[in-house]
Amino acid sequence: MKDINLNNIKVFYEQEYDGGGYRLVDGMFSHPRIAKLCEGKQKVLELCSGPGFFGFYLLGKESRESLHLTDINEDLIPIIRETIIKNDLNNVIFETKFWPSERFDLVVLNPPHHNDINPHKKGEFTGISKLINYDEDWNFHKKFFNELDGHLTDDGCAIVIENHDGSDSNTFTKFIPDNLNVEYIEHQKFGWKGSSEFFVMILSKND
Ligand SMILES: C[S@@+](CC[C@H](N)C(=O)[O-])C[C@H]1O[C@@H](n2cnc3c(N)ncnc32)[C@H](O)[C@@H]1O
Repeated sequence: MKDINLNNIKVFYEQEYDGGGYRLVDGMFSHPRIAKLCEGKQKVLELCSGPGFFGFYLLGKESRESLHLTDINEDLIPIIRETIIKNDLNNVIFETKFWPSERFDLVVLNPPHHNDINPHKKGEFTGISKLINYDEDWNFHKKFFNELDGHLTDDGCAIVIENHDGSDSNTFTKFIPDNLNVEYIEHQKFGWKGSSEFFVMILSKND
């Protein structure tokens, strides 16, 4: 198993479960607008967590009440358990489900970025690469937008990173229900060395 130090938490991972979070986490959460939004948030959830790069980074950054991680991939269980044990963390939960039952002050996610199984005809996603990259008919995203309101505290927000190779803000605007506000931060590299550019959606309750 490999590891990376994120704000003094030794985060364990296997290369195949890195969906880009390893390289994006520092640049993304150092962005002034995003860093400010994450300050003081007590109950944090990372959806599509993989090994939990975003969640553990935020937990190491400042004292928080709890970190919840969820992902569909059961193979992550021993990896995340290793991070919890080796860092002696007692406020972290990982579950293989979509949503935990409670509400959160901060939800972060790096979801699958493509609804095309063979984008740019570069080779079809299969196996773990399909799980990481492919969201058929944007079904994961649609469920996320429709159910987010019920999982945010009144002052809570969600921060979602997307890849301009797979979508742009127009792709998702039509799926976002009236009960949510959305703000976009577009065309970011966040320290990424390849050709991709990323954008971030910040979602909060519409009162
Ligand atoms: C782009 S990867 C991000 C992984 C990690 N958070 C990172 O930043 O490197 C997307 C993750 O979403 C998970 N995933 C895919 N479909 C899912 C679903 N329907 N429900 C929950 N997790 C899902 C995959 O297992 C994968 O870990």
